[in-house]
Amino acid sequence: MTIRQKLVLGAPNPWTMLDEAAAIARDRRCVIITGTSFSASVARDFLANHAGLHVEFIEITADLPTADAYDVVWHRACEGETPGVIVAVGGGKVLDLAKLVSLWAGTHQELLLHVRRAEDTPGKIPLLAVPTTFGSGAEATPFSVLYVGGSKKSVDVPRLLPEVAVLDHRFCQSASRNVKIAAGLDAVCQGIESLLSKRRCAESEQLAVRSLMLSCSALPGAIDGDDVAERRMIRAANLAGRAIAITRTAVPHALSYLLSSKYGVPHGLAVATTMSPYLRWLQEQEAAKSTLSSFGHGRPLEKWEGLVSSVDSTLRGRFDELRRLHGAEMVEAVNMERLSNAMVPITPGDLSAMMGGG
Ligand SMILES: [Fe+2]
Repeated sequence: MTIRQKLVLGAPNPWTMLDEAAAIARDRRCVIITGTSFSASVARDFLANHAGLHVEFIEITADLPTADAYDVVWHRACEGETPGVIVAVGGGKVLDLAKLVSLWAGTHQELLLHVRRAEDTPGKIPLLAVPTTFGSGAEATPFSVLYVGGSKKSVDVPRLLPEVAVLDHRFCQSASRNVKIAAGLDAVCQGIESLLSKRRCAESEQLAVRSLMLSCSALPGAIDGDDVAERRMIRAANLAGRAIAITRTAVPHALSYLLSSKYGVPHGLAVATTMSPYLRWLQEQEAAKSTLSSFGHGRPLEKWEGLVSSVDSTLRGRFDELRRLHGAEMVEAVNMERLSNAMVPITPGDLSAMMGGG
């Protein structure tokens, strides 16, 4: 599978890469969708004054990509003339919502109706995605998460893939240490889960292995603000995004959504919560042995736990506590579609044992 997307890599001035947006918009509205952390930054002034761009900002204040948040953004974006381009500057939540709005489908009910009927939406606004965390890889995937009435829906439509992705680590530098840790662990988990997906192929495996080689060496430095490590980490996140664009995610993601939606655990940490017991369980499964050799030289659990401890020595204890407190509920609420994507079939009974014995 070949992803058709223009990838724009670093430039001397990161903001000049948004000339791409001006070229696409051609004097029409440029709607810029951002998170709250972006609004006070110098980037906002730069974009507002960018020659050739009639920019309008829409700020997302919700904690999750919810249907309500989508509707607010949709109504703001569709007021007046149809935008010539949408620029999404943010983490996974911002990119996910902007991708959905770019389908130009209407309210969330109308959007979901189109998806359910597998029919094209009435339009598509070109989307330029600028990740500000080195984690989600959302700039590289044709799917978005949407929480509707507290339950998580995955919208998986080829046209959700942004037309342009801008990768520059300088957009990620203002993120807090905690945001960087959560986002980086999400990227690592996505690389591992892609390797362990039943949809894996030679291309996805190559992307995932390249991603993991970069992320496992670069993540600690990137969290500490090392320039070279940050460059490597944003590439790693993009490669993992491209890998799961082919394979989709699997078990730790399937278990994670309750922790995020009900208990407010950041997505990357929610996913990472179950990676240790999952890898321990896999090490006992004959069918997983050759695949696991692609990560950590056949010792994936040691590799993963070493990485987690190196970014924050308290994290493994926090993950143990989250599983102890919420493990049973997580198994009950597991996303069956994601779970069924696992290369080695796993039952709810296996998951319960994993939670108890992690
Ligand atoms: Fe993720």
